[in-house]
Amino acid sequence: MSHVLSLDTVTKRFSRNTVVDRVSFDLEPGERVALLGHNGAGKTTLFKMILGFLPLDEGTISVLDAGPGQAAARRATAYLPEAVAFQKALTGEEILRFYARLKGEDPAKAAALLERVGLADAARRRVGAYSKGMRQRLGLAQALIGRPRLVLLDEPTSGLDPISRQDFYTLVEEVAATGATVLLSSHALTEVEARTDRILILSKGRLVADDTLANLRNAAHLPIRLKVQGTEASVEEIENRLGGHRLNGRSVELVCDPSEKLQRLAAISELGDLVIDIDVHLPSLDDVYRHFSGIAVPAPGPGRTEPC
Ligand SMILES: Nc1ncnc2c1ncn2[C@@H]1O[C@H](COP(=O)(O)OP(=O)(O)OP(=O)(O)O)[C@@H](O)[C@H]1O
Ligand SMILES: [Mg+2]
Repeated sequence: MSHVLSLDTVTKRFSRNTVVDRVSFDLEPGERVALLGHNGAGKTTLFKMILGFLPLDEGTISVLDAGPGQAAARRATAYLPEAVAFQKALTGEEILRFYARLKGEDPAKAAALLERVGLADAARRRVGAYSKGMRQRLGLAQALIGRPRLVLLDEPTSGLDPISRQDFYTLVEEVAATGATVLLSSHALTEVEARTDRILILSKGRLVADDTLANLRNAAHLPIRLKVQGTEASVEEIENRLGGHRLNGRSVELVCDPSEKLQRLAAISELGDLVIDIDVHLPSLDDVYRHFSGIAVPAPGPGRTEPC
């Protein structure tokens, strides 16, 4: 079966600046993929090329075997731009009916879409009186008109509070569950951690990582931290037997290579009643992101320089 989206050595230059540099990846049906990258990494430029808004300098893009901007690709693709703006004097329902007509869909479907994004009660209110979160939901509703196969969301949760973000990702999950592929860009690394199946990292226009977070963690080979909690009476013995360093009056932190994790856990369990609890801290997505972007990963504490 063909890919939903396929990029092969896609390159874009503005004057002499190469802002997207030989980027290649394929997306499959139902995948939720995060596109991460610093300001100016080329995320929006990539979206615009996929949509056919900007021509490519090199490489090829296909959306379900159609070229970017071709009628078949446009029909299959939905887009929520970075800064979504609607006519403030219109109601949410009027705006959706307008976009439905533009896309050749039945305007009567507007009500069901508003219901789906939790805006049924605000359908007849003017968009000028919507909160930012409500406007983002309306933007998503607009993007979902006509059951798209590929949904491109450019920083969809920027400016949303934590609950609105969660609600937004729940909607994204529902969209992916219908078989649509979702590609969303974000700066909020930790929030995409549990919400996407795969992570693409762009750095200065280059795709420097493309995998699941688990695989990226393994490939980055970043250290794991084990926090072993004892009691005031046992902490010294724990430190003597395990090494590592004392965090406070009760805990010892060990920093170790991922391949040593099970061995270290076994050694901890041999301490029996001396230990009250263990916390395992895997490298965060921020650490993984920094690693692949070539930014130095900050040391979490003295333990990082003192392996277990
Ligand atoms: N029309 C344009 N003309 C010239 N340079 C451009 C144009 N559009 C984008 N750029 C440049 O291309 C680079 C990538 O920009 P882009 O908007 O794709 O980054 P981004 O990853 O979306 O960043 P952000 O996270 O800030 O939204 C930047 O250096 C930007 O200045
Ligand atoms: Mg952008």
